Amino acid sequence: MHLHLFDELVYTKRRQKLSANVGDGLILLMGNEDSSMNYADNTYPFRQDSTFLYYAGIDIAGLALVLDTESGEETLFGREAGIDDIIWTGPLPSLQDLATKVGIAKTKPYAQLGDVLKKAKDTGRRIHILPPYRPENKIKLAEWLQLSIAGLQEVVSLKLIKAVIAQRECKDANEIAEMEAAVSVSVDMHLAAMQYTRPGMKEYEIAAKVEEAALAAGGRLSYPTILTINGQVLHNHFHGNQVAEGHMVLCDAGAETAMHYAGDLTRTFPVGKQFTTRQREMYQVVLDALDHAAGLLQPGIQYKEVHTQASVKLLEGLKNLGLVKGDPAEAVAAGVHTLFFQCGLGHMIGLDVHDMEDLGEQYVGYSDTLKKSTEFGWKSLRLGRELQTGFVLTVEPGIYIIPELIDRWVAEHKLSNFVDYNTLAGYRDFGGIRIEDNFVITETGSRKLGKELPKTIAAVEALRQ
Ligand code: GLY
Ligand code: MN
Ligand code: MN
Repeated sequence: MHLHLFDELVYTKRRQKLSANVGDGLILLMGNEDSSMNYADNTYPFRQDSTFLYYAGIDIAGLALVLDTESGEETLFGREAGIDDIIWTGPLPSLQDLATKVGIAKTKPYAQLGDVLKKAKDTGRRIHILPPYRPENKIKLAEWLQLSIAGLQEVVSLKLIKAVIAQRECKDANEIAEMEAAVSVSVDMHLAAMQYTRPGMKEYEIAAKVEEAALAAGGRLSYPTILTINGQVLHNHFHGNQVAEGHMVLCDAGAETAMHYAGDLTRTFPVGKQFTTRQREMYQVVLDALDHAAGLLQPGIQYKEVHTQASVKLLEGLKNLGLVKGDPAEAVAAGVHTLFFQCGLGHMIGLDVHDMEDLGEQYVGYSDTLKKSTEFGWKSLRLGRELQTGFVLTVEPGIYIIPELIDRWVAEHKLSNFVDYNTLAGYRDFGGIRIEDNFVITETGSRKLGKELPKTIAAVEALRQ
């Protein structure tokens, strides 16, 4: 078994800082279990919890970490492999060997964890937990803490959530190097799609090439691939259509490295050798919005502002094409852009493709003074707050022509002073375009991660010859 770890000191320092920031009681960090797919022994590929990976690094099922913030004691709970395990899995390192690799002094059998927590609770000590998202862990925590499953939400520790986010949100040099690697493999996935696609293929034939590139680099997918001629369907995981001359393929795919850092890229390209005139015009509008947004990235700017500016840029472009009217900034303030761009401009990315989303979007993407909006369009913006050096995020503007949404707005005569519904009727079957890159915020601006992946019209078409 091979573990992919940073230096032991990286983990030791992270845990010390977490303990100091939380400052009281016990911190419990749950690793994940294997999870069954269709019968007990046929499990989904194992994915360790990202916060557990961040503080303990060990990519093995069935572990938990307890940090005593007062005594400083750190204990890894797990199960020693017996001969009945070893005949199926091969020899495994002892729990103590694993703990030592990441600087943890003490180990205890997993079966004792419930008692340890109960004793702490009985003596009035606070037990800090994060919001559980896996059924296995919810069931265990409910039993140990003698709560209903729904009741667990009441005892999650906001102090722990905020302390974890404060550390994980700014990526250090080791992490940025991993993310560069993740994005570069993701680039290879997209190059595969853009070079391989020919009219007459099925989407799944292209998706298979995309996914091969992630596996062949020693990693895997960071999320299920979107590869579709119906790019206007935002989370479209159907891969059964035949692609034809005149279609565009929207491919949103990314790799996760062996250390579990994610890339998340999107390209939209013609199935034929060239975009049609209309596709070219709309593509350039999206690309201009991406370039404009990328130019705004720097510490101190609110990402909500970047989203707003990108939306204005989209409407400026759509105005030039005759689809919208009026002042683009006023139109964005009125919500016109949400007819074309219903989602957010981007999100944090790291060990999770939507980084730390399990800890709560309000805390990851917003702040005490900036609440997440509940309005259509804006409610899908996962990141709104001020950017800081070390944040890694996506920028992913798009135009999605959704006939059902247009029909709804037409029926409501919605914002008809800003939208030319007659011209828009001619675009009904246009589809969708998204272009997505990943950036790290530097002290003076930003840097795009990974090797180059073509996105200008000329460069994309050059790959299609
Ligand atoms: N691939 C998921 C996203 O772009 O957010
Ligand atoms: Mn994506
Ligand atoms: Mn994304």
